[in-house]
Amino acid sequence: MNLLEVTDLHVKYGKFEAVKGVSFHLDKGEIVGIVGQSGSGKSTIAKTLVGIEKKSSGKIEVSAKSMQMVFQDAVGSLNPRMTVRSTLREVIRHGKGVKRSEEPIEKRIAALLSHVGLSEAVLDQYPREMSGGQCQRISIARALAFDPDVLIADEPVSALDVSVQAKVLNLLRKLRDERNLTILIIAHDLAVVKNVCDRVYVMERGLFADEGESEKVFSDPKSEYTKALLAAVPDVERALDARK
Ligand SMILES: Nc1ncnc2c1ncn2[C@@H]1O[C@H](COP(=O)(O)OP(=O)(O)O)[C@@H](O)[C@H]1O
Ligand SMILES: [Mg+2]
Repeated sequence: MNLLEVTDLHVKYGKFEAVKGVSFHLDKGEIVGIVGQSGSGKSTIAKTLVGIEKKSSGKIEVSAKSMQMVFQDAVGSLNPRMTVRSTLREVIRHGKGVKRSEEPIEKRIAALLSHVGLSEAVLDQYPREMSGGQCQRISIARALAFDPDVLIADEPVSALDVSVQAKVLNLLRKLRDERNLTILIIAHDLAVVKNVCDRVYVMERGLFADEGESEKVFSDPKSEYTKALLAAVPDVERALDARK
């Protein structure tokens, strides 16, 4: 069964329609991409899914128990005055919908860190003392504390160096493989979604210009828009190919 089914979604800002009728779904364990130029409406979709923006019409059917969002600006989305330990402790203690358990909090923190491939050496660090990649891993760890079945990642690697991008994308893939997590990745950079996503929707000015299995969309793009995006693919692909 689909964890999420969106039908003919429209979203307006005042009179301006940013999303002009898109339909898509997420199946359990899939990594799905929405890719398109800046301003095409991708973030508006993500925000509408988690309730930050309101749809003007259409249907959003959710059977997922928990959807969590990870943002582009990982450093900025972490509290600068809190160490990693206090950030994770807070979410475990007070996060809305986070399961309380008998397990010692330090053990839960350690488990979250290990899920995102960080050592306990970062526990006493502040966001400014960590790299962008490490901060993004902490944001992902914080999202995982909610034990979500869907992770929505809006430009999760746009702020990162290309070599670090590949590592964070590989982490997302690992989380899918190990936890059967369903992941929606939103990106303006086609290379980012190309090797990571099972299926992709290509967004152009509020509508989907192309959609389908990544391999097919990228080897045989239907729209001129997708072809143009493909022509602009940079180096992250090579970095991804060099992954272990
Ligand atoms: N809060 C807002 N008020 C008015 N217009 C907005 C708002 N947020 C986004 N927009 C406009 O909606 C369109 C889509 O924006 P967005 O969803 O952020 O695109 P993307 O994430 O693909 O870059 C853009 O034209 C943007 O300027
Ligand atoms: Mg955006």
